[in-house]
Amino acid sequence: MEKIIIKGGHRLFGRVAVEGAKNAVLPLQAAGILASTGTLHLTNVPVLSDVLMMNELLKFLNIRVQFNQENHVIDLNASQKVSSEAPFQYVSKMRASMVVMGPLLARTGYAKIALPGGCAIGSRPIDLHLKGLRQLGAVIEQHDGYIEARADRLVGTNIYLDFPSVGATQNIMMAATLAEGITTIENCAREPEIVDLANALNKMGARVHGAGTDVIRIQGVNFLHGCDYRVMSDRIEAGTFMIAAAATNGDVVIENAESKYNEPLIAKLQDMGVTVIDQDDGIRVLGTSVLLPSTVQTAPYPGFPTDLQPQMTVLQLLANGTSMMNETVFEKRFMHLEELRRMNAEYQIKNSTAVLSGPTKFSGAEVATTDLRAGAALVIAGLVAQGITQVRNLKYLDRGYYHLHQKLAQLGAQIDRVNIDDQIELASAKEVNHPERG
Ligand code: EPU
Repeated sequence: MEKIIIKGGHRLFGRVAVEGAKNAVLPLQAAGILASTGTLHLTNVPVLSDVLMMNELLKFLNIRVQFNQENHVIDLNASQKVSSEAPFQYVSKMRASMVVMGPLLARTGYAKIALPGGCAIGSRPIDLHLKGLRQLGAVIEQHDGYIEARADRLVGTNIYLDFPSVGATQNIMMAATLAEGITTIENCAREPEIVDLANALNKMGARVHGAGTDVIRIQGVNFLHGCDYRVMSDRIEAGTFMIAAAATNGDVVIENAESKYNEPLIAKLQDMGVTVIDQDDGIRVLGTSVLLPSTVQTAPYPGFPTDLQPQMTVLQLLANGTSMMNETVFEKRFMHLEELRRMNAEYQIKNSTAVLSGPTKFSGAEVATTDLRAGAALVIAGLVAQGITQVRNLKYLDRGYYHLHQKLAQLGAQIDRVNIDDQIELASAKEVNHPERG
């Protein structure tokens, strides 16, 4: 078992590059199931444990998978007979496995997927996925911990989502590419990752229109084929570095980051006194010695992303005054605050809103991540904390961040990742040079 050890108090300076987007590549891998001829050649693929897990599931489904990790390339070939069962061993480790259901149903007429269990950030039902697939003509049953979906043929129809679920939109969109006639998904998710998937599907021969708006129309086609596709850059990894730069009062250029995907974050950072410059090669973030408090509400895109909420609360806790964070997407996504309390944070949670009292003088502590973004928040807190912070449960971080500690070290953080059993040589316990605030 490993942990990350951070000696806080170092400003971040320099340049860091972001990877391809985790939340874009996972559905793109699943889209590989739809290509009955040719190879889906994905580039700019991040090397993450979730990506490896999706590859394992696809191999189990009899899809040929080659991942050249050095070149960040995956080749998926599903031209042979595809099998249709996703067992619990995959789905329990990664809920995003659910996104193979739509493609399997469309390609083979049958999908048997283990029901995912609980999740640290909320209950995460899949009713909207199932409702949409049923409307396309699938007969769906639930038994023995599995969802079984059957459809001799899928027929296009109008589907209204009660909530713009990312996963449901992806599943329905992929199923509809091979359905008869036209499918309309209203109140669908508008996330950039949805647009990325639609672009790839269209390159594979699908006819998807309107991705990025709240109505997507899909004209079904007879078959899809492989193509070359470059995965979009990771706006959440970019946002994490932007917040880390602001928290440490640093000056960082985040290469490959696209400001159009991070507008809500940029607006809030600017409100808090941080300078954000849109450059040709990425986004430059310059911190400030006095952060102003802010009020933030998470919402589906184009709202403030829930996947940046934990990281943002660290910045809000550093601000001079009381900030508010209202989480509207997941009901349990404040678990990181319990850990941050151990680092000196003061806050109260009222319903879905955290009232955060700043400015916090974070102090180093031993903390454990409860989910991916919570882990990123703890690392950022460690960067500004007085003394040593030790972050455990790194398996969550590895799901979504590639070489996080190396990238932060490259920016000047004093950070290391060690085997928990090793003798740890902590950095000198001398008084840490803190970025001054207020
Ligand atoms: N929901 C339902 N019914 C459904 C589907 C969703 O009630 O059938 C609810 C969920 O319980 C949740 C909300 O709708 O409260 C949002 O869920 P959504 O389906 O939009 O999320 P997702 O597809 O499960 C993706 C990302 C998440 C990200 C959310 C929201 C992937 C692989 N995952 O999940 O990413 O938080 O969209 O933007 O794309 C992360 O990267 O850390 C992460 C959790």
